[in-house]
Amino acid sequence: MNSSSKIRSWEITSESNYLNRRQFLQAAGLAAGAGAAAALPGRALAAVRELDTVPGPYSTDEAPNSWEDITTYNNFYEFGTGKEDPYRNAQDFQPRPWSVKVSGECEKPGNYDYEDIVGPYTLEDRVYRHRCVEAWSMVVPWVGFPLGDLLKRFEPNSDAKYVRFKTLYDPQRMPGQRRAVLRWPYVEGLTIAEAMHPLTLMAVGVYGKELPNQNGAPLRLVIPWKYGFKGIKSIVEIEFARRQPDTSWEMAAPHEYGFYANVNPEVDHPRWSQARERRIGAGLFAEKQATLMFNGYAEQVASLYSGLDLRKNY
Ligand code: MTE
Repeated sequence: MNSSSKIRSWEITSESNYLNRRQFLQAAGLAAGAGAAAALPGRALAAVRELDTVPGPYSTDEAPNSWEDITTYNNFYEFGTGKEDPYRNAQDFQPRPWSVKVSGECEKPGNYDYEDIVGPYTLEDRVYRHRCVEAWSMVVPWVGFPLGDLLKRFEPNSDAKYVRFKTLYDPQRMPGQRRAVLRWPYVEGLTIAEAMHPLTLMAVGVYGKELPNQNGAPLRLVIPWKYGFKGIKSIVEIEFARRQPDTSWEMAAPHEYGFYANVNPEVDHPRWSQARERRIGAGLFAEKQATLMFNGYAEQVASLYSGLDLRKNY
């Protein structure tokens, strides 16, 4: 099927936004089908390929942010600590060839190529709310497949209580790693139940295209009920673990960033409130909006935490 003739969920939810996107992509030389390296003033963009996708479950009906918002306002400290640094500094990064090492409590450990990892899956468009701990949010049309479907293929055993993820460590290719702003490589973790939850996505794309480098090419996590820092980018290792893994932000500032990191308007960050959020792209004078428990996904995920004190386990 010609993927550019398909109607995607964000086109239905937000035609005017889609038109804005097309205009932006055309201006950037990235209109559907072009897919080639394009030139914005002073900056050559890496090519992003169109993907064949189907509408996935759980999509929000809120209007997605623009391609520009999603690809130029990022945290990806491997390419610098400023919000536009990843967009500026990641364009020359080559996300292929890519392989992922799978280890730990499972029957099928090994090294798997990107193509082995992604090959078996139908790629779904899922429009998710995305809430950062810095109190801003976006709505992002991700492309991916359920992480749990991938993990089951490695046949975790009954000692696999957690899953640990690691980002590539390569200071030659990731210049931000030449500075000790975090302990490298970036690491993250989930309980096995969180990792297997159908909302948890292994993302390979955004807006129907392969992930731009700054968004975590070629493979990154998206866990929509958690703060954005759980969404580890450019994953090269997956380990099934018995014990709760260390995570990068918890190691950097344990009183500020916990393992669970569920979006929770009732638990303040020690230095600011988490009760409200600023929607990127809404304009400088737009009012902040109330943050929802579990980022609005309580119905799907609250049961994962029954009996857990979410003030202590932040
Ligand atoms: N993954 C790696 N490897 N390095 C990072 O610095 N930043 C995290 C997360 N994943 C980060 C990372 C943070 S703090 C956020 S908010 C999201 O990526 C933001 O990126 P996105 O807008 O592309 O999702």
